Formats: sequence, structure tokens, C-alpha cells
Amino acid sequence: MTSPTAAGYERFAAVEARGVSPLYEEWAASIADDDAVLTLIDSLPKPKRQPNLVFAAARLAGAPLARYPEFREWLLGRWSAVEPIIQSRMTQTNEAGRCAVLLPLLSRIEGPVALIEAGASAGFCLYPDRYSYRYRTDAGDQFIHPVDGPSSVELTCALTDAEVPERLPDVVWRAGIDLNPLDIQDPEDMAWLETLVWPEHQERRDRLRAVAKIAAEDPPPLVRGDIVGALPQLVDKAPKDATVVVFHSAVLPYLDPDHRQRFVDLVQGLDVVWISNEGEAALPAVNKQLPRSAEGRLVLSLDGVPQAFTGPHGQSYEAL
Ligand SMILES: C[S@@+](CC[C@H](N)C(=O)[O-])C[C@H]1O[C@@H](n2cnc3c(N)ncnc32)[C@H](O)[C@@H]1O
Repeated sequence: MTSPTAAGYERFAAVEARGVSPLYEEWAASIADDDAVLTLIDSLPKPKRQPNLVFAAARLAGAPLARYPEFREWLLGRWSAVEPIIQSRMTQTNEAGRCAVLLPLLSRIEGPVALIEAGASAGFCLYPDRYSYRYRTDAGDQFIHPVDGPSSVELTCALTDAEVPERLPDVVWRAGIDLNPLDIQDPEDMAWLETLVWPEHQERRDRLRAVAKIAAEDPPPLVRGDIVGALPQLVDKAPKDATVVVFHSAVLPYLDPDHRQRFVDLVQGLDVVWISNEGEAALPAVNKQLPRSAEGRLVLSLDGVPQAFTGPHGQSYEAL
């Protein structure tokens, strides 16, 4: 009988990695059938068994980006170096590209904006006003740049059934919350962030370095804490003349359903604009309003009302 770990690796290969990372697809599919490696992985606490975490930890420890037999031999021989990385790290992929799907909503807000990101990782999504955007539309590519000219980071997004945003938000204050904020000035945290990007995605790794430079010019205050516990205080600190926007993307799967509901109740009771960019299963009350399946994309919602299906890394926006 297939063990839950083997089934998880099989699913990861077939659903998440297929067509996105041939190397991870091969590693995960092979592990699903490899008792020796599965035994090692099953010796980890449950939340630590996920392919993304195991593969990134192995790569950080120097695993060859090679076909499975070579990777397997390396992993079995070097497990003692990989295991402590798995134990001490979490998957905290930080994808600035998601700003391209937040922008259609943020650009509609008049006046000064105070941005608070719940589950911010290193905080790269807190700079939607510092990046340039290329929106691919039926009428061709349309660009939008920061007020002081084109940014060193250009985010590309295919836009369907939506207006191209006309301006960037006027962000006057920004802050983030994370259980484990990553520090862009710390080479180990940066190395971890780079390793979390899947092997074939060199362009995303290059962008991550460029984004880190922008963030380093004006590092955001990142509060260490839980999104429920830390949010009210942060909202209190925001400038009173600004519209406070609380947003989160790819964070709710980390919370169990009760915790998620406490977060939703909290944010709905605050005087803020709430933007959520999460998987289809994350918010049942939002997702029951969807006209059709998101087909693996995220659901962008504004104050609990679905607005668009978005590519997981911000590469597409289809308005609803
Ligand atoms: C996949 S990352 C996404 C980061 C960022 N939002 C983005 O879109 O690039 C999820 C982040 O949520 C954080 N996180 C998970 N549960 C949390 C909680 N209960 N409170 C605060 N942060 C949490 C994790 O530490 C991680 O950095």
C-alpha cells in the first residue's frame, strides 16, 4: 500500500512540478517508489516531510542538480547534513512577482496607503510602488513605472478581462508580520530564499537578487509573530491619514482551519482594506462565490469578494 509520504511525493510530481520543474518532477516521482529515501523522510516530523522543503535543504547542502540515481546516492550519503537544515528552516518562498496581481486593486485606492503584509517572509511584496510592470494584454504590452522612472525590476503579468492599472499606489508606510522574518542583509537567509526558487527558474533567482537590492535601500519593519496576535498593534501604528491595507498571499495553507477563521474574523473587524491572494481551498466563504474552478491558480479577493484568478507567482490575472 502507498504510504501517505509516497502519495504526497507522487502528487507533488504529477500536479505541482509537472511542466514547471522537470528535475523536481523526476526526484519526487522516484522518491515515491524508493523505500530507503522514504524511511529517512518519514523520520522527520510531519510538516517537515514536504518535497519543497526537503529538496531545497538538500540543494542548500550542495546536492547535485542531477538525474535521480546520482541525487539519491548523494542524499543517502549526506542525510546528516541535510536533516538539520530541514529541521531549522521552513518554506518561505518570497515572490515579488505577486505585486503585479495586487496592483490592479492597490491602484484603485486614492490617497496615501499604509501597507501591512501578513506572512511577509523577507517583505519583497511590500514594495509594489518600487517595481515596473509589463502587462500583457490583447492590445499588446503596456507598461507602468514608479514616479521616478523605470525600476531595475520589471514584473510581467498577462492581464485578461481587466483594465491596465493607471498608477502605482502612494505607499507612505509599510510593515510586515512573519513567524520567522527573513533578513535580506543576512547571507544565509538570502541563500535560503534563492534555494527555495526551483532549479530551472534562473530568471526568478536573478529577479530575487534585484528585488533584494531595492528592499535593502529601505528595509521594511518586519515584526516577528503570528498574524493574528501581531496584526492589531501594527494597524494601530499605521499613520491615521492613510488607508490601511492588510494583504497576504500564499500564507493561509500554513494555518489550520480554526486559526484561519480567527484571522478572517480579526481582519474583518478592523478598519482596513483586506486583500487576500490565496489558494482555492483557503477561504471557503470567499470561494463559494466563485463562478468556476481556479484550476490551480490563486484567488484574489477584496474584502471577502473574489476579484480574479491569479498565477501562483503573479504571472497572470484573469478578472472575474
Ligand atoms: C510562502 S511564504 C509567502 C511570502 C509572501 N507572502 C509572498 O507572497 O511572497 C508564507 C510565509 O507565511 C509565514 N507564516 C506562516 N504562518 C504564519 C503565521 N501564523 N503568522 C505569521 N507568519 C506566518 C511563513 O513564515 C512564510 O514566511
